[in-house]
Amino acid sequence: MATKKAKIPKDKKILITGASGIIGHAVALEALKENEVWGVARFTNPKLKKKLEDAGLKCIVKNFVDWDVESIKKALEDLPDDFDIVIDETYHTAFVTPALYERYPNVKSFVATTTGQNYIGYTEEYLGERKKFRWDESLRQPLSYFGKYGMDKVAIEYFAHHYCITKKIPTVILRYECPVITDLSLHKKGYGSWIGLKDIIDGNEIAILRNIIGRPWNVIHSTDVAIATLEASSLATISPNIFNIAGYRHYTNREMLDTMAEVFGKKVKYREFLSKAYIQYGGYYKGNFIPRTGYNYPFIYVLDKMKKYLSEPKISWRDMVEDVKCNETYKLLWEK
Ligand SMILES: NC(=O)c1ccc[n+]([C@@H]2O[C@H](COP(=O)([O-])OP(=O)(O)OC[C@H]3O[C@@H](n4cnc5c(N)ncnc54)[C@H](OP(=O)(O)O)[C@@H]3O)[C@@H](O)[C@H]2O)c1
Repeated sequence: MATKKAKIPKDKKILITGASGIIGHAVALEALKENEVWGVARFTNPKLKKKLEDAGLKCIVKNFVDWDVESIKKALEDLPDDFDIVIDETYHTAFVTPALYERYPNVKSFVATTTGQNYIGYTEEYLGERKKFRWDESLRQPLSYFGKYGMDKVAIEYFAHHYCITKKIPTVILRYECPVITDLSLHKKGYGSWIGLKDIIDGNEIAILRNIIGRPWNVIHSTDVAIATLEASSLATISPNIFNIAGYRHYTNREMLDTMAEVFGKKVKYREFLSKAYIQYGGYYKGNFIPRTGYNYPFIYVLDKMKKYLSEPKISWRDMVEDVKCNETYKLLWEK
């Protein structure tokens, strides 16, 4: 048995940015059980703000509209100076991270969060499907959605390394993979993993790219993410301690859809199709990538460190589907 060295913080003063996000809110709720917790976000959902305030969160409304470290640092001036732990769960711009490091140079643990998606073996053909360009205000140029997101997350890791090493600020970098929320009344973004459910219940066909039907996800419930995040905050080091955070089991897209159907007493009507990018590049990848079967999607997500030091996630995908069925918030998927 591996020794679990991490501990959930107790009696600490914790700042969570992005505290109304799908991960941030869950981290806040867990942290509030035994700590004083302050949350910064826009808090665009009043219901969620109330839930967090009722749980004891000190909600500080901030909208970081300027795209530079100094302005964001200035916006943080009216917050207390004496946090023990800073957890950055903002999903907005990489500049929040250095602003927080500058504002809190004496913090005992800084938790920077990024994504496992940057480290999975995506192929060009898959990314080709996702190229939707949009104007990026921080860089003053158009960028693909994934490009901007991925770059921000890489930048956050570089900032974290820089401040951790040069300013000696103990740091943990968490690369999350596929967090899921089951109370869909809290966050519209949480609908993501549940999109197929509406079509399953309505008896509609599910159109799915043949080359991603076997794409596996290490889904993890937001509460398990929160526990792992708080535990990991006790393992901050110089240089940064890096963890992949995800569910231990891979579920392919097909398995996830089939489980949803089973729990709701339905059957999935699949309509598989091929993408233009697949047709263009399929042959080129022949040999090392075999999308026709759908089950050879290149996928590398190593959880050895999480398994060694942090608690095992408790909530399975089936539990999540049963929860969303029981709390009936899946019905919100029908609302425009
Ligand atoms: N969700 C995923 O699938 C996933 C996967 C891998 C990694 N991650 C990482 O996990 C971390 C948290 O992500 P998340 O999915 O929980 O994010 P999220 O649900 O989109 O939440 C983002 C948070 O940032 C706040 N925010 C956004 N724009 C802001 C602004 N201009 N000023 C102030 N606050 C602002 C939001 O406030 P309001 O909502 O109140 O406006 C919200 O609290 C990020 O580092 C993300 O990259 C997420």
